[in-house]
Amino acid sequence: MNELLNKRIVLGLSGGIACYKAAELCRALVKAGAQVQVVMTQAATQFITPVTMQALSNQPVFESQWDAREPNNMAHINLTRQADLILVAPASADFMAKLLHGRADDLLSLMCLARPSSTTQLVLAPAMNREMWSHPATKRNVEQLRLDGAHVLGVGSGDQACGETGDGRMLEADEILQDVICLLSPKDLQGKRLLLTAGPTFEALDPVRGLTNRSSGKMGYALAQSAHQRGAQVVLVSGPTHLQVPRGVNVIQVESGQQMHHAVMTHLEESDVFIACAAVADWRALEPATHKLKKNDKQTPPTFELTANPDILAAVCKCEKALSGKLFCVGFAAETENLEQNAKTKLERKGAQVILGNLAQNTLGRDDNTLLWVDAKGTFEIPNNTKAALADEVMKQIAQRLS
Ligand code: CTP
Repeated sequence: MNELLNKRIVLGLSGGIACYKAAELCRALVKAGAQVQVVMTQAATQFITPVTMQALSNQPVFESQWDAREPNNMAHINLTRQADLILVAPASADFMAKLLHGRADDLLSLMCLARPSSTTQLVLAPAMNREMWSHPATKRNVEQLRLDGAHVLGVGSGDQACGETGDGRMLEADEILQDVICLLSPKDLQGKRLLLTAGPTFEALDPVRGLTNRSSGKMGYALAQSAHQRGAQVVLVSGPTHLQVPRGVNVIQVESGQQMHHAVMTHLEESDVFIACAAVADWRALEPATHKLKKNDKQTPPTFELTANPDILAAVCKCEKALSGKLFCVGFAAETENLEQNAKTKLERKGAQVILGNLAQNTLGRDDNTLLWVDAKGTFEIPNNTKAALADEVMKQIAQRLS
């Protein structure tokens, strides 16, 4: 998805071994649709070449404030006036110390100082040895830079290039990309608290076998990510999936429908919106075996008495908070036929404000889908797109109805 389409980003590199990660970051920003202008300090060019960064950004790199390519010789003004954001990654301890004092003796620090702060955000992705990161001088500088309006991204922890282990690693390219998208997203869900379910559930038959379904969780995870980017506080109750939890989203991992029901009910009070996206197994074994069922010599397979799982969405829609209009409830309808009619029936049966209808055969395990928005006012289609784009449209529609 082109989350950064039409966004202009100055990617600044100061000196540090994490410069190798800036190449991947540059590529990720370009892939997300951004126009990237790379600016490197002299120290950065010791770690990675401008040729690499030019090839990845598709633009000549700037390294010096005396670069004569700009007709007025004012690269620090020209390159920052159109930019949505200056991202310094890696931001070395020395570079941050320099910024703190408003020094401007190279092009990148000059640009940070000269940027129009009301329109061009400054984002710093620090990278350094653990002792440098924990030094009181660095801590003071980071604190003051935050107070001065810079967004200082957290650091990663783990093995460092110097052989030591600890805090100070630059975040991975994908993590920085997510934070940048978040900073540049509309904040129409700011202050809202969103609770959602995602993925399949797994209902044990014995300790090694169980009933489940083919839901991947992709739609629910995309909704959680979009809501977070739009400023909401998100709690994601997830069944077993292989997906990475989006940055900034609080996750509660569960296995069965009963566990999912319990986790949702526990968090309802502090939620403004509930979205039921999980494919909850409708039935579970009444009495799962406590030990692995053995075949032995028996020819007859075992039989299980099944019992219904709680209908989480229906239960939430009936709670006092929802009935008094303080909780906006959205459900999905996975159908294989008669989509509109079945979705309308579910809207009524469950008591939700919105049902998002989709055809199971067009969504299970896939990265794209088509949705049918069904509410009391009528229906409209959200046309085929990636699940990330659909999620963004759904969150935009929800934000409009909450405002
Ligand atoms: N749902 C739920 N708890 C359940 C079953 C479903 O919260 N035990 C929610 C789903 O997350 C979805 C909506 O209810 O938002 C509809 O789910 P779906 O599987 O389409 O329908 P069912 O309610 O299971 O009904 P049916 O199987 O008859 O289509």
